[in-house]
Amino acid sequence: MCGIVGCIAREASRRSEEVVMAGLARLEYRGYDSAGIATVSNAGLDYRKKAGKLANLQEKLEGEPLADATAAIGHTRWATHGSPSDTNSHPHVVDGGALALIHNGIIENASLLMRRIQKDHDIDPVSETDTEVVAHLLALTYHDVCDSGVTPGVDALAEAMRRVMPELQGTFTLLAIHRDCPDAIVAARRSSPLVIGLGDGQNYLGSDALAFSEWTDQCLEIGQDQMVVVTSDSVRVYDTHGNRQTPHEFTVDFSHERTSKGGWATYMEKEIHEQPRAVAETLENRTDEQGYLTLDELRISADVLRQLDKVIIIACGTAAYAGQVARYAIEHWCRIPCEVELAHEFRYRDPVLDQQTLVVAVSQSGETMDTIMAVRHAREQGARVLAIVNTPGSTISRESDAVLLTHAGPEIAVASTKAFTAQVTACYLLGLYLAQVRGNKYIDEIQDYLEKLSQIPDKMQTVLNTSSLVNEVARELGPKTESVIFLGRHVGYPIALEGALKLKEIAYIHAEGFAAGELKHGPIALVDEGQVVVTIVPTPRRPELHRKVISNIQEVRARGAYTIVVAEEGDDAVNEFAEVVFRVPQTPTLYMPLLSAIPLQIFACEVATARGCDVDQPRNLAKSVTVE
Ligand code: F6R
Repeated sequence: MCGIVGCIAREASRRSEEVVMAGLARLEYRGYDSAGIATVSNAGLDYRKKAGKLANLQEKLEGEPLADATAAIGHTRWATHGSPSDTNSHPHVVDGGALALIHNGIIENASLLMRRIQKDHDIDPVSETDTEVVAHLLALTYHDVCDSGVTPGVDALAEAMRRVMPELQGTFTLLAIHRDCPDAIVAARRSSPLVIGLGDGQNYLGSDALAFSEWTDQCLEIGQDQMVVVTSDSVRVYDTHGNRQTPHEFTVDFSHERTSKGGWATYMEKEIHEQPRAVAETLENRTDEQGYLTLDELRISADVLRQLDKVIIIACGTAAYAGQVARYAIEHWCRIPCEVELAHEFRYRDPVLDQQTLVVAVSQSGETMDTIMAVRHAREQGARVLAIVNTPGSTISRESDAVLLTHAGPEIAVASTKAFTAQVTACYLLGLYLAQVRGNKYIDEIQDYLEKLSQIPDKMQTVLNTSSLVNEVARELGPKTESVIFLGRHVGYPIALEGALKLKEIAYIHAEGFAAGELKHGPIALVDEGQVVVTIVPTPRRPELHRKVISNIQEVRARGAYTIVVAEEGDDAVNEFAEVVFRVPQTPTLYMPLLSAIPLQIFACEVATARGCDVDQPRNLAKSVTVE
């Protein structure tokens, strides 16, 4: 939540401001309540900030341009403390305009610190944010440092940051500039992301490497409780004792084609259509010459995997639904109990964990705070943690024992689509790998499953190529529908939940997903004339499941529901009970979610468009949920 970007160049020019504004546009997915920028040069420090989307800040900058600068820091906000107003926007500029600070995270002891500052220094806050207090604290500490004999400038600012960090409780990425040192940006992080981008004669800072992907792919990871002093030619990283640290360097693959809309009206549409590639790339290079599955990045030994007696998948939102799909496959293939738990509930439940437990943390961003806290809890209890993430170098990947990367590429639309199907795919690979290592399946069986999995990208493409009916129905229902029920059984159940979530979050329609069998235990009371009910029908090759779901459709239809059905090609039994049928190619039951999720994503996207909603940036949401 909140996007942070910084740039520092050798000479004062428009460059740093332009880089920061372009970076903010790329990070707007992280929050879009308000935005701001501060710049500094030998001529002084200046800033602009504005509530609302980035366009409002751009407009303000056109009317009141900033002067040429060496350094710039920018922020796009997802409000936690205080409403999205101009005053609450970042940067927070204090000490008579000497220091500007931006912040991502939550300072839990902000009120306590503010009371102290008010009492000792007679400073009253102008905003309602937790960030402003840090800006005051940093400025006051800077004066203390200078008073103790340190020359005003970058070393004093770095020392002040080092002294302030331990006083802060909570999470933060902080970026500060000061008019005494226009040649440096001083930053610090704890449990919120910060990546440094290395350029030639200029360096960059970002909440994620996407912020500066246009300029460099060479990055440095900043560790927990570290601070960093960035100039145009150098990056110095320190721990909180002031000891110099060597950061991990890595390269990211952000080709322009993967980060632009590429002709699509929205990122969400583009990402829906990128799913065949996301799944294919997640499956790539996973077997050795003998056809054995090899998950090279999985740094947990086969011995440890053989001794496991339980798998717990932890995740939030869509990623948790990916986990729910995976549970069916993992239990079926590996005969090992597999639970799925929402990450934010996990540690409060006091789960039974030990060294024989494999905790699988599933996350697109790798920065979801609820999931990070659950990972930490699991490791403290002695469990092994495997991260399935889409963002290399992210906090979850760094803090886990092992990582399995999904190769979906950058996902920019707030609503997750390609990351979801890539997560399901990676979970299948994990399930098959466990089955192979633990001897639950013979190698020819594993190869057969892998072969069928490798056919999924082509089948996804077929779904995409034949989706015009979904668009048509969505355009017709979109403006007049206020409630949609989604039903599924077995692996169709998490897909029903996911279909409902997609519609809620981008079209603001009340939608609920139910296990089809649960309907008669209460929810069927919701159904009356015209209620739209979308049902995910299992393959007729599983007659015991298929029969029951067909009965469930009949039950809602008998009560006046308008029935939409997602069913396999050739499943003609559904025709007489459905107003509309969205077809997907035949595929093994366990893989069906990878296909049936797609019409529901397209449906939500088109309904949202028909209702005039902002598909990529739905209200109240942010892409990376970095607060608990
Ligand atoms: C919904 C959606 C969210 C995320 C959830 C977890 O479309 O995107 O529900 O799935 O916030 O995010 P990650 O996967 O980044 O941990």
